[in-house]
Amino acid sequence: MLELNDVKKTYRGASGPVTAMNGVTLKLNAGQFVAVQGPSGCGKSTLLLTAGGLMHPDGGNIRIGDVDPYSLPPDKRATFRGERIGFVFQQFHLVPYLSVLDNILAAALATGTSTKDSVRTRANQLVDQFGLSHRVHHVPNSLSSGERQRTALARALLNEPSHLLADEPTGNLDRENADIVLDAMSDFASAGGTVLLVTHDELAASRAGTVLNMRDGQIA
Ligand SMILES: Nc1ncnc2c1ncn2[C@@H]1O[C@H](COP(=O)(O)OP(=O)(O)O)[C@@H](O)[C@H]1O
Ligand SMILES: [Mg+2]
Repeated sequence: MLELNDVKKTYRGASGPVTAMNGVTLKLNAGQFVAVQGPSGCGKSTLLLTAGGLMHPDGGNIRIGDVDPYSLPPDKRATFRGERIGFVFQQFHLVPYLSVLDNILAAALATGTSTKDSVRTRANQLVDQFGLSHRVHHVPNSLSSGERQRTALARALLNEPSHLLADEPTGNLDRENADIVLDAMSDFASAGGTVLLVTHDELAASRAGTVLNMRDGQIA
């Protein structure tokens, strides 16, 4: 379960304050795939970052399961995120000097499990599942966009999180790779996970079970 209650966030911009979230309330249950769709600048990335325990909101609160991630000290919050949440971003955020396999295994650094045999086995299963076997020792620079995002998706799933949060994950992908990513997100929800996708792409949003519209920092 993922819950946001009246969440607010205002940035201090160069030319004055910018309110990115103006009282967002939403609840996602286990097994739900929810897309939040809206135009550029409406607050989608801010919503995702606050929901995922990556950015402290100014008001309201967040519950992931029964935990408010912002009540945890930073080190415990990082471990909690590593165990419970998989993130996927438009720009992949892979480590440029690590191979595909080591990028996937990097997720296990946060949970202290990167040397476990079971984790290495799972990483290799994900490599196979996402068609990356022929790229396993390559660095991100030598991969296609689709391969980069499939690597990021494998990394997000490595720790068997309960929540998958994705910010425009298909923004740099061709249709075939976009479908691979969206199918994986659907499968994750079907298996009981919670998925929050934020996107301006109507086609991507249409794959979710529930589509919410965001405008000017609020869910319409
Ligand atoms: N770090 C920041 N500093 C100042 N303003 C920001 C910052 N990040 C985002 N904003 C502003 O907050 C609003 C919402 O941004 P964002 O959440 O990135 O929207 P979206 O992801 O829907 O494009 C926009 O007006 C954006 O310019
Ligand atoms: Mg954004």
